[in-house]
Amino acid sequence: MTTTLIDRIGLLYTGDPEREELADAALVIEDGLVAWAGPAAEAPDADERVDAGGRAVIPGFVDSHAHLVFAGDRTAEFQARMSGEPYTGGGIRTTVAATREASEAELATHTLALVNEMLAQGTTTVEIKSGYGLSVEHERRSLEIATGLTDETTFLGAHVVPAGLDADSYVRLVAGEMLEACAPYAKWVDVFCERGAFDGDQTREILTAGVKAGLGARVHANQLTEGPGVRIACELGAASADHCTHLTAADVDALASSGTVATLLPGAEFSTRSPYPDARRLIDAGATVALATDCNPGSSFTSSMAFCVALAVREMRMTPLEAIRAATYGGARALRRTDVGWLRRGARADLVVLDAPSYVHLAYRPGVPLVHQVFQSGLLL
Ligand code: NIG
Ligand code: FE
Repeated sequence: MTTTLIDRIGLLYTGDPEREELADAALVIEDGLVAWAGPAAEAPDADERVDAGGRAVIPGFVDSHAHLVFAGDRTAEFQARMSGEPYTGGGIRTTVAATREASEAELATHTLALVNEMLAQGTTTVEIKSGYGLSVEHERRSLEIATGLTDETTFLGAHVVPAGLDADSYVRLVAGEMLEACAPYAKWVDVFCERGAFDGDQTREILTAGVKAGLGARVHANQLTEGPGVRIACELGAASADHCTHLTAADVDALASSGTVATLLPGAEFSTRSPYPDARRLIDAGATVALATDCNPGSSFTSSMAFCVALAVREMRMTPLEAIRAATYGGARALRRTDVGWLRRGARADLVVLDAPSYVHLAYRPGVPLVHQVFQSGLLL
């Protein structure tokens, strides 16, 4: 078995709470896993050596919230927003029409291109949702495509009520026949709990059915307005409540005292020109926070975790350390994964060598491509 030593790491951000940062470090990869991490001066011998040349190394980003299976384009909607139109989520139906029209091969090729775009920017784990099919056949097709690209697949049949159906019969369909068809391809079930999408009772019904079918719960919660989403997520033991933009004090308390991660998606606020979530309030209350891109054609068409880190620092007053933690360890917590998001012995050797002396540069040098090398399961891409 070949071992690889990554030597002369200027700053290693391990993501391991027990020893989060280490200057002048080295790391050994064996069989796709981290075999050792520590001071360079104490590094063991290895078969191969990679010289990091004083650069910083971080765990691969864990993007725990993305909608990558879609077709079509919503440039015009973005342009209208930049001229003052508000974001309502109504454009989801435009993408549903385009997605249904696309062939399976077109959809698969487009989704793969987005995953590769993410990988090149240091994202080594990504969650992929359905939600632009909204019929039994089209949701299943989206999830089949997603399962070929990631283990983290999410059934989001409850994205909006599709045109031409009434809400009650659609909820029945999602929690019944659609769930049954999609569950074999999904690890998670998600609901867009929002005015104009699904209310508290509908959200509870769909999530409960999903959990009964063996899926873990996650919720699009409190994105556009205050509502019951966060509380339902915490009550049902969801892995994460995503967006968390409009929170009451009770929501913050619920997140702080539960195992539900607060996943913040600042790309959505950036791209919809909306107020950012109050990350400080959540962190100071003791909630676990994750950062993700929400990559989708409507509210946040970015695949860049580095951009989200920069937004979190500049716009949400997270420190650079809190932001890199949320983009790696936090994302892993939001997916209930212990094998990714940190570089401790036994974890998957998913790591990024940055063309910078520190992870702080992700926020300090926004928009600059700082990824020097990406390793996934120990293999240099
Ligand atoms: O997370 N809010 C619901 N879903 C997506 C947006 C989907 C769209 O506009 O196409 C989100 O922001
Ligand atoms: Fe989303």
